Amino acid sequence: MKAILIANPKGGSGKTTLTTNVAGYLASQGQRVAILDLDRQKSATQWLANRPRNLPSIELMHSESDMGAPVDWLVIDSPAGLHGKNLEHALRLVHKVIVPIAPSAFDIQASRDFLEALHHEKTVRKGKIFVGVVGMRMDSRTRAALTLEQFLKGLDLPILAYLREAQVYVNAAFEGKTLFDLAPSLAERELEQWAYLINWMQHSEE
Ligand SMILES: Nc1ncnc2c1ncn2[C@@H]1O[C@H](COP(=O)(O)OP(=O)(O)O)[C@@H](O)[C@H]1O
Ligand SMILES: [Mg+2]
Repeated sequence: MKAILIANPKGGSGKTTLTTNVAGYLASQGQRVAILDLDRQKSATQWLANRPRNLPSIELMHSESDMGAPVDWLVIDSPAGLHGKNLEHALRLVHKVIVPIAPSAFDIQASRDFLEALHHEKTVRKGKIFVGVVGMRMDSRTRAALTLEQFLKGLDLPILAYLREAQVYVNAAFEGKTLFDLAPSLAERELEQWAYLINWMQHSEE
């Protein structure tokens, strides 16, 4: 089983949106996928409860020792404020981490310690854990994107995608759906922005 942690200590950075869409993408590819929801707010769990039965199925893993049906992928959504022992514990479950960052100076600064901790982890577990950043609700040619890029330079962490702000994410979420469950014409530009992230998730050992 491959496992991905979606994490950022700040609330509202896009963790649950990324979790559901990553899981939705993998399910759309015929992969067996489960979500583990570590957030007490249980947003991903509620989203899954709304998911129409005719769409590619995604399971809910209730705890990490849950021995339900075997899956190919586990996508872990995490709460705001994940740090210390809980972060270390979550990191031990996965080989990849995706960090969504929202487009503000406050969000970028608030992610600093977290990204430094991940950078350290990456160095310690060289070749065993891979970390990438997603600019969430961010356009690539904006001040926020430039600031994020400069900020990440010293940390040697790749930017996997800029996912722009789009109502289609919000609307899909209301219905237990993801971009990958919609008619492609409804999310054409958004889907393009996922290409590198999808490739990194499945193949990249960088
Ligand atoms: N790319 C996007 N376009 C539009 N809205 C977004 C996008 N990413 C996240 N959002 C919205 O931003 C808010 C916070 O996202 P969420 O995934 O709940 O963050 P977190 O789980 O980190 O708290 C939600 O209302 C969500 O619908
Ligand atoms: Mg959330």
